Amino acid sequence: MIVTTAELFKIAYGKFAIGAYNINNVEQAIGLFTGNLEAKAPFIIQISKGARKYAGVKMLEGLIRACDATFPDAVYAVHLDHGDEKTCYDCIDSGFYSSVMIDASHEPFEKNIETTRRIVERAHAKGVSVEAELGMLGGVEEHVKVDEKDARLTDPDDAKVFVEKSGCDSLAVAIGTSHGAYKFRGSQGLHFERIAEIQKRLPGYPLVMHGSSSVPQEEVERINAAGGKLDPSAKGVDENQFARAALLGVTKVNIDTDGRLVWTRVHREFFRDHPEKFDFREPGEVFKKEYAAFIVHKAQKLGSAGKLDEVRAALATAKTAA
Ligand code: G3H
Ligand code: 13P
Ligand code: ZN
Repeated sequence: MIVTTAELFKIAYGKFAIGAYNINNVEQAIGLFTGNLEAKAPFIIQISKGARKYAGVKMLEGLIRACDATFPDAVYAVHLDHGDEKTCYDCIDSGFYSSVMIDASHEPFEKNIETTRRIVERAHAKGVSVEAELGMLGGVEEHVKVDEKDARLTDPDDAKVFVEKSGCDSLAVAIGTSHGAYKFRGSQGLHFERIAEIQKRLPGYPLVMHGSSSVPQEEVERINAAGGKLDPSAKGVDENQFARAALLGVTKVNIDTDGRLVWTRVHREFFRDHPEKFDFREPGEVFKKEYAAFIVHKAQKLGSAGKLDEVRAALATAKTAA
């Protein structure tokens, strides 16, 4: 069942975080639904511009509708990840998306507000909610000076002004994470004091953490042992910190890279161990299972595992009250 992102946020805020996973193909979609049902977790499906180009807009929509029919107990929202203005309008007008992200964080502050405001007006008219981004996501490496590190993180006062002026429904904040497999050097990690300051200015307001993959060392080692050449210094977010972040208002946690690592490990190991094989459905079967197990693990760390009944009950109460 597709629900609104706003409904999920209302239920989860301050208690647990909802995993937002990118999908690109059928094996990933099946693994995603299977894993979340096994964990009894609500979730968010994210579609990037790259995914829309790779699989095709209609194909992705058809895939999700087919999963919905195949897994009728699943409760999830559908979200555009890292949209530009045109793609946001496409998704809003399609009637298929629960929420869109406008990524205008590279724009100057006022321009980011203006662009986000335009999207919000059009989205809200159609019951779609909007995630915006403020701050500079990116590796905050140890050689970067303290004041420079600070400037890259989202400024709490700016965050409050931004939300008030733009009307966005959730905000992606720069709190030390970055996209991809190389997030931190040395002892770097999440900037909890910054998240707490933002929450103080915006109590009850859902924050989004991009770049939340944990890049497990074991996964990197297995990929490299099967012929991969990933930099062994690859490092991600400590997933044991998700729960603390959730208490501070981080309600959506974006994970993509870790799923790509699962895919790479499964396929590299499969063809290393079975060089004579060429039926792609065989590693595909392994991947669906491994991806589902990975989703169960993430749901446990996010605190969303086991919440499905509570979410269904809250949705039903909200419907009766409306
Ligand atoms: O943050 C971006 C996501 O990992 C999606 O990546 O744009 O390559 O599909 P993509
Ligand atoms: P990762 O690269 O850490 O998986 O982040 C994904 C993301 O932020 C998608 O928007
Ligand atoms: Zn992202």
